[in-house]
Amino acid sequence: MRKSSLIISAALAAALPALAGQGVEVSHLGTDNTLVRVAGEGKYLILPIQENIDDAKINVIVDNEIVKTFYARLAKSKTDFTVPFDLTPYKGKRVELLVETPQGRENVREAKGDVCWKAMEISDSFDTTNREKYRPAYHHTPRYGWMNDPNGMFHKDGKWHLYYQHNPYGSKWQNMTWGHSVSSDLVNWEHLPIAVEPDGLGSIFSGSCAIDTEGTAGYGPGAVVAMYTSAGRSQVQSLAGSTDGGLTFDKYEGNPVLPLDSEARDPNMWWNPDTKEWTLILAHALDHEMLIFTSPDLKEWTLQSSFGKGIGAQDGVWECPDLFELPAPGGKGTKWVLICNINPGGPFGGSAAQYFIGDFDGKTFKADTDKNGNVPTKWMDYGKDHYATVSWSDAPAGRRVAIGWMSNWEYAAEVPTQQFRSANTLPREMKLFKGADGDIYLASVPVQELEALRGEVVAESGKATLGATPLKIEIPASTEGLYEITAQFDADKKGKVELTLGNSAGEEAVIVYDAATRTASFDRTRAGVSDFSQSFPAVTVAPTHEKTGRVELRVFVDRSSVEVFGNGGEFVMTNLVFPTEPYLNLSVSAPEGGAKLSGIKVYAVGAEALR
Ligand code: FRU
Repeated sequence: MRKSSLIISAALAAALPALAGQGVEVSHLGTDNTLVRVAGEGKYLILPIQENIDDAKINVIVDNEIVKTFYARLAKSKTDFTVPFDLTPYKGKRVELLVETPQGRENVREAKGDVCWKAMEISDSFDTTNREKYRPAYHHTPRYGWMNDPNGMFHKDGKWHLYYQHNPYGSKWQNMTWGHSVSSDLVNWEHLPIAVEPDGLGSIFSGSCAIDTEGTAGYGPGAVVAMYTSAGRSQVQSLAGSTDGGLTFDKYEGNPVLPLDSEARDPNMWWNPDTKEWTLILAHALDHEMLIFTSPDLKEWTLQSSFGKGIGAQDGVWECPDLFELPAPGGKGTKWVLICNINPGGPFGGSAAQYFIGDFDGKTFKADTDKNGNVPTKWMDYGKDHYATVSWSDAPAGRRVAIGWMSNWEYAAEVPTQQFRSANTLPREMKLFKGADGDIYLASVPVQELEALRGEVVAESGKATLGATPLKIEIPASTEGLYEITAQFDADKKGKVELTLGNSAGEEAVIVYDAATRTASFDRTRAGVSDFSQSFPAVTVAPTHEKTGRVELRVFVDRSSVEVFGNGGEFVMTNLVFPTEPYLNLSVSAPEGGAKLSGIKVYAVGAEALR
């Protein structure tokens, strides 16, 4: 009797590992409750993910204590992709994941059938080889997982640091942490370990960084200081500091430093050398206003003013503010720019970045009015995919460089990618200019570093008179559809000039300049895959701010985006597109005739520019 039961349990024990992946032991404690024990050695526990199911809640237990909780869509019937759970912080300790799977299984027997248990494994490596057709070649993307807002950007010692809202455990919004990348040329990005992780106060929403030259916050002179929103039951503002140049942050023990009794987020702060205090602008999201505070040490904050009640686009929540000074057009002093991202309520639905031009005295922002005495609503970019745009702090040579999230909350989680979701826009230099109506506007100029991307001119045309019959320019397949187009033309007084990017599948993205309305538009209604969201097909329209009909375009085409910059960034449209084949047929026409093309060039993106 004894002997046989021993034999049976030995046989059972031998069968157990077969139910789980390599180096992993799985015990099903109940219908929706499973314990995963890390039994092998390795850097990562690889987690299989299925996109279209609900999140499981995962408590990470180390030596019997819960050290972390996160959510992941652990695969039930099929694995779409995998994500790594980093085991290195717990080396030599007993690690278990207590998984609460979503409701929906009848009993434990059914729960055992989930494919994730067998597919989990311990590994020393995680394969980040790109498997995605639509992953951009020269835009910043996370190697895997979800990304939304760029945030916390600062420049130090020749490096542009870029943090971003990141879910490391899946390709939909969840588990907000600060992912981290760094670049010395704003083109090539190196991926660094996660910089700020969720804690007892909540997940880590957007915020800002700056160099604390005077060491006011207690992290020493020259430390990188960060403020971010701790998003738990409430949204409150927290402080952290880094003494290793932004790789890791120590959270301030007195957090939160700025709790309010209403929803506020995305603190953006900087040191004011004149007043010797910190200034902070904070989105009072549901109140549709920005709050401005000052502080001597990033811990004690005094509310100075608010801006925005009843002003500008008010339809959505106000988020991700920025406030900075730029030389005024014509060399006359300076002006301040207040960026206010809103969602929804953008000009073409969903998210967009509006801005205000005005003056700031260190305490209060006062917006300029137009000739009718109103504060006009202005947009940084008239495409559908430009959101959460903010700028780098401490940039050299007085530069003000901004970058946006190249997506839209309307469909960001549904776009046809899986291993990763979302890219950032190309970085843009901020400049002010006077529009034809006499008002001051913000231009977004592609940063000069992007010229290094230009490889050979692979197609071109010299001067030509444009008419209804399109001028056809073939772009070699060797470009793989990655290129920059430059074009200059003079449109007839009331005429239109059309540039069409087409492919062999008959899909096309169409850019139209219309001299009659002084607008440019971008039509992606037939540009490729769009069935993932009814909000995706769109025609976006930008005012061009000129009176002459003379237009210079720079159009950046990557695997799933087109960014149109007109007249030195005086009008911009950033739009995602998902062509099934690369756009290799460019055609240019003036349907009503009479437009003069000065020249057009297509630069391949040089492989040597991309490291
Ligand atoms: C903007 C935003 C921010 C917030 C973050 C959360 O896209 O909603 O207001 O901090 O995303 O990920």
